[in-house]
Amino acid sequence: MAIPVDVVIMAAGKGTRMKSKLPKVLHRLGGRALLQHVVDCIVQLSPRQAVVVTGHGAAQVEAAIFPQAAPGAPFPPALSFVRQEPQLGTGHAVQQAVPCLPDDGVTLVLNGDVPLIEPATLRGLLADCGGTRLALLTVHMPDPSGYGRIVRQGEAVQRIVEHKDATPQQREIHEIYTGVMAVPNARLKNWLSRLSNKNSQGEYYLTDIVNLAVQDGAEVVATCIADKVQVDGVNSPVQLAELERAFQARLAAGLMAQGVRIRDPARFDVRGTLACGQDVEIDVNCVFEGQVALGDDVRVGANCFIANAQIAAGTVIHPFTHIEGGGRAQDAVTVGECALIGPFARLRPGAQLGAEVHIGNFVEVKNSTLARGAKANHLAYLGDATVGERVNYGAGSITANYDGANKHRTVIEADVHIGSNCVLVAPVTIGRGGTVGGGSTITKDTAPGALSVARGKQVSIANWRRPVKTQK
Ligand code: UD1
Ligand code: CA
Repeated sequence: MAIPVDVVIMAAGKGTRMKSKLPKVLHRLGGRALLQHVVDCIVQLSPRQAVVVTGHGAAQVEAAIFPQAAPGAPFPPALSFVRQEPQLGTGHAVQQAVPCLPDDGVTLVLNGDVPLIEPATLRGLLADCGGTRLALLTVHMPDPSGYGRIVRQGEAVQRIVEHKDATPQQREIHEIYTGVMAVPNARLKNWLSRLSNKNSQGEYYLTDIVNLAVQDGAEVVATCIADKVQVDGVNSPVQLAELERAFQARLAAGLMAQGVRIRDPARFDVRGTLACGQDVEIDVNCVFEGQVALGDDVRVGANCFIANAQIAAGTVIHPFTHIEGGGRAQDAVTVGECALIGPFARLRPGAQLGAEVHIGNFVEVKNSTLARGAKANHLAYLGDATVGERVNYGAGSITANYDGANKHRTVIEADVHIGSNCVLVAPVTIGRGGTVGGGSTITKDTAPGALSVARGKQVSIANWRRPVKTQK
């Protein structure tokens, strides 16, 4: 039987160097809070529970993390919070979680500001621990200053010495503690109870348990990870930006391995999940947010923003298109097969476009369905509209869907032709196959097949003389 795993995530620190009002662990990477990355990672290990130690901005952190889990991931069965006030060091932080920890099982200690740790790495560390050993995750740092150094005698780990407490010789050590360890619960509790704060920072160091373990004759193993990005923490906006790029590069590499052609992975951002079919091409500077799916052969031009949208096979999204579907199912944007969208198109929540629809430049569509082959190619607004097959919607035309208090629907039946610069005042229905003359303001339903014109009659005065300037 597998040993139960309890996870303790330290997230009480202030994050002074972020110089932000937002608690550090709530800063976003790939569209998710740093701490959320850690929670989503550990969910994949199926731990018995996870305890998050909060302090600075505790209420805000707790509220932001609790209801959320990665899309599709099983909700963390037992996620709880303990508060650490004041913050007296990492040992003191883990001490706050002790009442939550049963005597059996092992505890995995993680940092809430180290977002890119991977489940496989943690599984390896838990295997190293094996329910009996103190297992440390370490890494070789070119510049180890600031970190706890791994002091070994031969191969055997003796202790971790914090940078500020290290001798000049110890400071030469490049193997550092990453902040990640796995430790049997019963021993952890014992060692935590014996920590002191007699060190240069007056803090209770979690890392001092290594020395206690050695004193007690417990086995200590340190595994050095080659992939530094997994253990990189975020302390400043620069580090956040660096990790964001590392994260995006990994995501892009995964998509390219599936065959997606990303023109420049350095100018590509996914803040959520992006699912792609075969032969998808994505030009530079595109941002994908929430849940986005691109069908086979979809091409996305440069500088597009696409959120919560399903784009069917063969569709082309031209440059500078803004698609902003909402997170709720009814607010998502759907685009049918072989549609042409953009350049400079805007699809807002609830835009549902059928196959072969064309939406051109400076056309805005909100909460509207457009059936197969409908076209709105230039400078138009369709809001709360139901548009039939093959409708042609002229340049500059709009649905006046809002009367100042309520929104109303416009129905444009199949094969209607709406001229340029029309105002369709909802609620209104344009009957099948009808035509609306350019410049019309339509306030009443029109009959199928009819031509409707609602504008001042043209008056022409022959040989009219323009006034001329009077001479003084
Ligand atoms: C700690 C380790 C150091 C290691 C480094 C890796 C100790 C004493 N030192 O350094 O060996 O190389 O991490 O990054 O453990 N936190 C709390 N409460 C506190 C103090 C910290 O929750 O009272 C949290 C912070 O929010 C952060 C994490 O613990 O998520 C690590 O704290 P930080 O101050 O960044 O690390 P150091 O103590 O400098
Ligand atoms: Ca510290």
